[in-house]
Amino acid sequence: MTVSNPTPLTSDADWWRSAVVYQVYVRSFADSNGDGIGDLQGIRERLPYLRDLGIDALWLTPFYTSPMIDGGYDVADYRDVDPMFGTLADFDHMITDAHALGLRIIVDLVPNHTSSAHPWFQAALAAGPGSAERERYLFADGKGEQGELPPNDWESIFGGPAWTRLDDGQWYLHLFDPAQPDLNWRHPQVRAEFEDVLRFWLDRGVDGFRIDVAHGMIKADGLPDVGFNSMTTGQRQSELLGKGRLPYFDQDEVHDIYRAWRPILDSYPGGRMAVAEAWAETPQRLARYIGPDELHQAFSFDFLDATWSADSFRKVVDTALAESTIVGAPTTWVLSNHDRQRHVTRYGDGAEGLRRARAAALLMLALPGCAYVYQGEELGLPEVLDLPDELRQDPAFLRIGESRDGCRVPIPWSGELAPYGFGPEGSELSWLPAPATWRDLSVAAQTGVPGSTLELYRTALRIRRAHPALAITGGITWLETEPGLLAFSRTAGDAVLTCVVNLSGVPALVDGYGEPIVASQALTGQDAGHLLPVDAAAWFERR
Ligand code: NOJ
Repeated sequence: MTVSNPTPLTSDADWWRSAVVYQVYVRSFADSNGDGIGDLQGIRERLPYLRDLGIDALWLTPFYTSPMIDGGYDVADYRDVDPMFGTLADFDHMITDAHALGLRIIVDLVPNHTSSAHPWFQAALAAGPGSAERERYLFADGKGEQGELPPNDWESIFGGPAWTRLDDGQWYLHLFDPAQPDLNWRHPQVRAEFEDVLRFWLDRGVDGFRIDVAHGMIKADGLPDVGFNSMTTGQRQSELLGKGRLPYFDQDEVHDIYRAWRPILDSYPGGRMAVAEAWAETPQRLARYIGPDELHQAFSFDFLDATWSADSFRKVVDTALAESTIVGAPTTWVLSNHDRQRHVTRYGDGAEGLRRARAAALLMLALPGCAYVYQGEELGLPEVLDLPDELRQDPAFLRIGESRDGCRVPIPWSGELAPYGFGPEGSELSWLPAPATWRDLSVAAQTGVPGSTLELYRTALRIRRAHPALAITGGITWLETEPGLLAFSRTAGDAVLTCVVNLSGVPALVDGYGEPIVASQALTGQDAGHLLPVDAAAWFERR
């Protein structure tokens, strides 16, 4: 790719406070070599698209050496690229081009567990019970007369016991798949190793890290029972995620790790940041992960989980803003990611789901803080619900019948035939099939089409960058409305931008807010005043 008119990165060390970050699920974004799997060179070739979309940074899901049991969240070598995705040289070319286009790169760090193919785990297996090699993981003897019962009642997030027994009689802990053994973060070598891995990627120029299972690295002393699980009471322990305490999540000691990482990030120029994928009992406990001496951001999954009602959104927005204000960090909004059903489908699917998803985008992008956009949401992609079971690859599918594959289907770029330009010209391969309806949702099919979801995102992102009221990181002012509406303003000097969302079920009169500058559906009415359709949002400005 030749880079014309490169836009150098701004030198603003606080760039992450109001950035729009685009999540790339590497395997499904763009395939440069026709093997049906997305890769780093594919991302590199599509950087101009992302620059034109108007985002600030990319978060890349893991592309490291891996047996791919959990889509790469099972890392065998933290310092290399899996051949499926390319080489380290491809990574270097990609980040150089990204920076030249003014785009920052955030990579995924997976510190809670390694792959069972990692040399440390292989050494632990070979060395046997009681060895120093086993101390880097969480091995334990079982309960029962012969040690035939797991050491405690912990349950894997993917279903079933969190322990697997080896032929030599010992058990090892895996909060996810058995191919993802949990590390022992009380071991100094584990801590030193990850500090070195951070430096490895910082030295290669990455601008930040998304920390996988950021709440999980420390387990309660003595590995105490939870007291119930799906085997005993039928309730899965993972139902407590974000709602209750578990002895394997959100332990106070985990914060020591981040207090050690922050000076490393701060020792590099340009504002290197980290965002936590953390689940905590309350927004208050979640906020403890962020702040000047720990991580920079933590995803607000409550926003993603809000139901389609004005009260629900208002509550999560207020809580998240209040908590982030206390710790002096930005809020971090997200509507979709590679683990959750796409929000078009969550909001009702079909025309209704798409209408609501477009409105939610304008809501999210008007809020202060940082917003994460999951690849394909700018195209209004729905979840693919009818993938054949034999193609599903999510390890959770085999254990509990739940699969995240439907939000990981390769992106449609162009053309009449599946996989719609995902690979090079003429390539018919894609690791998951795109539905026929995606022909009309491709990037090419939506580019330049007034009213398309892609053009809606482009317009909103352009305004978000340029508008003084959105450029600052301040608070919001809620405005009085009819029930079922959300309306808030953001102000910079004389410039006021007001976002109104109609969740009321009937068209709403929206006069007095100023000039409409973008709407998720065309406003109707003129003389008697503007009407905001059902499930729509609009931005108004007054200067
Ligand atoms: C969270 C990741 O987003 C998910 O995809 C993965 O399966 C688990 N962590 C385990 O690493």
